Amino acid sequence: MTVLRIDASIQGPNSASSELADLAEAEWAAVRPGTEFVRRHLGSDPLPADAWQTAIGANFTPEEQRTDAQRAAQALAQQVAAELRDAEAVILALPLYNYGISQHAKIWIDLAMAGGSNPGERLLDGKPAILLTTRGGGYGPGTPREGWDHNTSYLTRVVADIWGADLTLIERELTLAGVNPAMDSLRETAELLKKAAHEAAAHAGRTIATR
Ligand SMILES: Cc1cc2nc3c(=O)[nH]c(=O)nc-3n(C[C@H](O)[C@H](O)[C@H](O)COP(=O)(O)O)c2cc1C
Repeated sequence: MTVLRIDASIQGPNSASSELADLAEAEWAAVRPGTEFVRRHLGSDPLPADAWQTAIGANFTPEEQRTDAQRAAQALAQQVAAELRDAEAVILALPLYNYGISQHAKIWIDLAMAGGSNPGERLLDGKPAILLTTRGGGYGPGTPREGWDHNTSYLTRVVADIWGADLTLIERELTLAGVNPAMDSLRETAELLKKAAHEAAAHAGRTIATR
């Protein structure tokens, strides 16, 4: 079995989303030994920021007139799409930055759409996807920033509705409690949310691997 794992944190070993993905992956590997994990870390090894526009430009250029850069960008887009198409399941660790999706994850999604047979290709049709997302603050109903999380709904729209995955969404909020002194009063709540997210990630890895 092949599982595609995507990380997008820019915070290296301090990443809360990668920590969740590690838990899901470890449980997955324990119950399905022999699983091959194909990895792409968009934060530490970003896709080129201009590859998407170059690949799109290639689509509007007759094949014999395409530049080397256009051919390379198209090949990259097709590779990114193929990684999703070829995977039997995916683990996606995609955090919130600046109230939205990380730029690295957005380029990955744009390239996958450019490299598919059409922009709406169901690259994950019916396949399990564990989407792990983390955010420093709190965005729940009644909080001052309710509605400011412009990451999660976009990601679920893409992964479930466009790519067609069977989605399990695991969210962890308040990751900055204990880091930002202004959030000290939220530390206890944050610990409970962390514990719940960690248990959910491990449970998802364990149960989805055996489906
Ligand atoms: C550059 C940067 C921007 C951030 N922007 C926000 C933000 O707009 N809202 C928020 O709640 N947290 C924000 N955070 C906090 C992250 O969401 C938090 O650190 C989360 O754990 C990120 O996932 P990661 O630990 O896997 O990197 C930001 C963090 C960084 C480094």
